[in-house]
Amino acid sequence: MKQQIFILNGPNLNMLGKREPGIYGATTLSDIEALCRAEGENLGVEIVFRQSNHEGDLVSWIQEAGERQALVLINPAAYTHTSIALHDAIRAASVTLVEVHLSNIHARESFRHHSYVSSLAKGVICGFGVDGYVMGLRALIKLASQ
Ligand code: DQA
Repeated sequence: MKQQIFILNGPNLNMLGKREPGIYGATTLSDIEALCRAEGENLGVEIVFRQSNHEGDLVSWIQEAGERQALVLINPAAYTHTSIALHDAIRAASVTLVEVHLSNIHARESFRHHSYVSSLAKGVICGFGVDGYVMGLRALIKLASQ
């Protein structure tokens, strides 16, 4: 059976392409999904790609990833900076996880500088736009093979 990788996307990422293009670019979430699926094919892994505007969905998907022993690439979007529920879910599921952000959250408003996810992540990628997703996928595969 192929290694599964859950790629989870938080609130407002369904608006990519229309949302603040000066910060997030013109790429849509469907474009990112296609990119990740192509890379997944290359790497020989199964991609499960999801987005939700609801915190509880992300919590349930982290739990599901833990049960399935899937690796997780997550862009928690604004929940990065607010969600103790997401932090607790990641802790409880003890999943191998990489955090990704399109923008460099450290070069933006101070409320974006703290992440409730980073301390539980194997690594954090931010500021490289959509390329960060591909970098994150490659990093997870490498981690899994070690
Ligand atoms: C984001 C950065 C977050 O601060 C923001 O709330 C987002 C997107 C990013 O990908 O750059 O929604 O996670």
